[in-house]
Formats: sequence, structure tokens, C-alpha cells
Amino acid sequence: MPSPQLLVLFGSQTGTAQDVSERLGREARRRRLGCRVQALDSYPVNLINEPLVIFVCATTGQGDPPDNMKNFWRFIFRKNLPSTALCQMDFAVLGLGDSSYAKFNFVAKKLHRRLLQLGGSALLPVCLGDDQHELGLPSKFTLLFLQEAPSTGSEGQRVAHPGSQEPPSESKPFLAPMISNQRVTGPSHFQDVRLIEFDILGSGISFAAGDVVLIQPSNSAAHVQRFCQVLGLDPDQLFMLQPREPDVSSPTRLPQPCSMRHLVSHYLDIASVPRRSFFELLACLSLHELEREKLLEFSSAQGQEELFEYCNRPRRTILEVLCDFPHTAAAIPPDYLLDLIPVIRPRAFSIASSLLTHPSRLQILVAVVQFQTRLKEPRRGLCSSWLASLDPGQGPVRVPLWVRPGSLAFPETPDTPVIMVGPGTGVAPFRAAIQERVAQGQTGNFLFFGCRWRDQDFYWEAEWQELEKRDCLTLIPAFSREQEQKVYVQHRLRELGSLVWELLDRQGAYFYLAGNAKSMPADVSEALMSIFQEEGGLCSPDAAAYLARLQQTRRFQTETWA
Ligand code: 2AM
Repeated sequence: MPSPQLLVLFGSQTGTAQDVSERLGREARRRRLGCRVQALDSYPVNLINEPLVIFVCATTGQGDPPDNMKNFWRFIFRKNLPSTALCQMDFAVLGLGDSSYAKFNFVAKKLHRRLLQLGGSALLPVCLGDDQHELGLPSKFTLLFLQEAPSTGSEGQRVAHPGSQEPPSESKPFLAPMISNQRVTGPSHFQDVRLIEFDILGSGISFAAGDVVLIQPSNSAAHVQRFCQVLGLDPDQLFMLQPREPDVSSPTRLPQPCSMRHLVSHYLDIASVPRRSFFELLACLSLHELEREKLLEFSSAQGQEELFEYCNRPRRTILEVLCDFPHTAAAIPPDYLLDLIPVIRPRAFSIASSLLTHPSRLQILVAVVQFQTRLKEPRRGLCSSWLASLDPGQGPVRVPLWVRPGSLAFPETPDTPVIMVGPGTGVAPFRAAIQERVAQGQTGNFLFFGCRWRDQDFYWEAEWQELEKRDCLTLIPAFSREQEQKVYVQHRLRELGSLVWELLDRQGAYFYLAGNAKSMPADVSEALMSIFQEEGGLCSPDAAAYLARLQQTRRFQTETWA
């Protein structure tokens, strides 16, 4: 296959646009894209056969094009331009200008409009480099610092208030009071797992078994403080956020005005592992020679293995990287914070309770993520650690959340049995389903639950026992570490193969699987396949087809997470 062709055409007066174009050319070739770089006037103006063109154009003094694109400029603005002169090429325009002049980037803007008019497709909105920024690399936003607190308007997130019309969503979460936060694993268990309950009274939130709640976490106060310290930011500084370009929309979650503390606490994901583009931008912003050199190395193709060893393998965070490059960090212009650091994403949890048994309440089961790498500090999951740190016993605690349908849906017909397989925190959605089904008088609830020890991580043991006594539930536990050989849910499934087959094949049962996606889902599917063969007398391809049919008819559903 011929390599794709990129053409970079520049109009340059002092050489900067040419320099930038040549850099683009090098980058393109590094990515195995055939590329030519030429001054606009040394290129035949007919662009009919070019599929992909980047124009890099400076604007001089009074809004004029540079000398080496003057012929092109005259040509392209001819009224009687033949329609074949330009075509449906894909293009992008990068302008280089100076925002202290009235006709800032006039040439790039005008060229962009004209190319659209002539039938070109813009790959990007016109990019406007500004000499006022030493980088020639404009930020997406400007932070306008306020001298003092404004007299009106209080800082706070946009939130849905009780009684409001629309249900809470990502742009308008509900600030749910946390009612309890209880460790449900025994003191000697390796993992801290929490049962957390929220009050959703008046929130407009409604959900059914299988739905998930999204939680918008925040950074720890200690991390926020450290970040502000390393960057030399005043956490109390207030600012207004202004997009530089009309087509960049402001982050809806941020209040206006916003404090630096609020931005860093709730918006910037400083605990995430940085991507390569973070190093690229940081290198551009760095004024410190040694640090800049290292950052450039990490941004280069040759430096990728080293970057992986430094950052990805040990899961080093953005905050830790900034601490390693203190001179660079201290000189980051605040305008670039939102270009540099990704936003904190919400995290999804299976809802573990039913509104029928816990009206106005929402419960989740959270395993607090913590692990060690070669770095001294343990790595911690942002959301689970933040949730675990909140203590409603010490005063009111509110958590931004909203709900959305999950991937599990339960049958509404009253006599359809359900087989649920949920080891560990995978049991959460099934607790909601069992509560809902029992409240609706539905029988035929079979739960395969797996944990390590009966007395350490057997969540809701007493509740299950109570339901078993009332004949509302059949619980089949698998304790993996109470005997020499591991016993997992799939072993118990095989043991009870004839019951499983009877339920699925004769009684039209639905089968559900939830939990940690490592080998568990595949192991459980394999157990099912052997049940179909042994109990149903199917050959291997027929057993596979049987499972596929269950999936197609939504009688086999899974919800797994990493
Ligand atoms: P283990 O940690 O003793 O190996 C909840 O995490 C339960 O799921 C634990 O008892 C755990 O056992 C078990 N588990 C681990 N891997 C599994 C797998 N591949 N299939 C089923 N259960 C598994």
C-alpha cells in the first residue's frame, strides 16, 4: 500500500512558520506518513490532487500575508476561480500571530473560511498560535484572577436540589448525604471493603435492581495542598474561566468564580498516571534546561520504554511526576492546567440495595483499592480511598452522584427462576435483585457466592440466612480458603450441575454473573459448558451454541469490572 501523503505548506516572514512546518514534517515522517514541506508560493497553486494539507501561515503587521505566499493569496481569492482549482481535500490551518495586534491571525482565519467555501473539509477548527505566549501554543482557557471575593454568588458545584424537575446527571449531580460507611470485612482480612449508604430523599433518583450509581470523587486534601505547593498556587485564589475560542465549551461542573482549591480538589485528576502528551506539553512549558531535556526524552519515540518504566509500570501519578520536576512545576502558567491535566472521571458502582426494602436509600459495596509497586507509597484507588476516608460520624458528608441503567435486567414474569453468580463484591447487584424479587413475592432465587473465609468476607451472611429460613433464597457459598484445595463458585456450579441444567433447560431460568473480570467469567462459562455436556448430553459445539443462545435471548447476562 502506498504510504499516505501529507503536504505541509507554509507562509513565513521571519522563519517561524517554516520552522514549525519542518517540525510537523519530521513528526509526520516519524509516524510513517509520507510528507512534503514547501513554501506556498513555490508550490503549484492547483491543489486538486492533494488529499491532506496543513497550512501554516503567519500574519504580518497589518494583517497581511507573508511575502512567500502572496501569489497564492491573490490566486485563492480570485472571484472567477475555476472550481477544479481546489477540491475536497482534508485540511487544517495553523496560524501564527500576535494577539497584541488588532488583526490577530487574520490570514489564518480568512484562509480557513475560504478553503471551506471552496469545498475543503476542515479536520480541526483553525488553530491560532500567539506570540504573546512564548510557546506559540495557546491554552484552551484563560484564568482571569479576581482580586477579592465577589459580593454575590457563592462557590459551589452545580447540583440538583431536592424537588428539582430533571433527575440528577453528570452535569448536575445530587449531593447525597452519606449515612453510614462501615467496614464489612473482618479485621484480619487483607482487604478493606465498605458498605456505604446514602440518603437520596427528594433527589428525583429512582432505580431498579441491576442499575449502577456514578460517583464523582475528589482528591484528598493532602494531595491538593501538595499540588498547590509544588506549583506555587494559592488555594484561595478565585478566578473566572474563559475559553479562548468560541467553540471550546467551559466545563459545566465548575462554578464561576472558582477557587484554585475547588479546581484542584474536584476537577483535576492529579492522582492519575500521566500520558505521553502530558510530558510533551510539560516539556514545552519547562524553562529549566535539565528538566526540559528529560521531559523531551520522555516525549520522544526513543524515550518510550524509559517512560514506561518511570511512569506506567510503577503507576506514578501526575502529582508525583510534578514533584520530580519541581522547577518546571513551579513555572506552569495556571492557564495551562486544564490542557495539562485530565478531568476526574466519575466511577460506576453496582447498586446493592432495593428501594422496595430501603426506601430513599442507596447502598453500595466498595472494595478499597490499594496495592504496592516498587514505589514506597502504596498506590490507592482515587474513588474508593476517598469514599473510605469520609466519616459521617464526624459531621455531615455529601457525595455527588447520579444513577444510570446497568447491564443487568431481571425478568418480570413472576415464576422465572434466576441463578446469580457473584463472588466477592460481585454479589452487590444480586443483593438488590434478591431484595426486589423477595419484596415482589418472586421465588426461585439461587445465589452462588464466593469468598475466602466465612468469618472474614462473607457479606450479608445473616441476611441470607434469614431469607433462607423464609424459603425465599437458596444460597450456595464457596469458601476458597477454608480447606486445602481452592473452592470457587464454578466448582459449586459443577457440583450442582443437574439442578443448574434443570433450572435453565426446563424452567427457563435466567443466569447472571457479576464481579471482578480476571479469569472468573471465563471459568464460570466453562463450568456451564461442561454442565450442558454432562447433564444435557450436548456435544461441545452444541453446548457452545446453547450458551450463545442464552446470551442472545438475554438469559445469560454479565456485569464485570476490572
Ligand atoms: P481467592 O482470593 O482465595 O483466590 C472473592 O474474591 C472470591 O473469589 C475469593 O474467594 C477468591 O478466591 C475467589 N476467586 C478468585 N479467582 C477466582 C476465579 N477465577 N473464579 C472464581 N472465583 C475466584
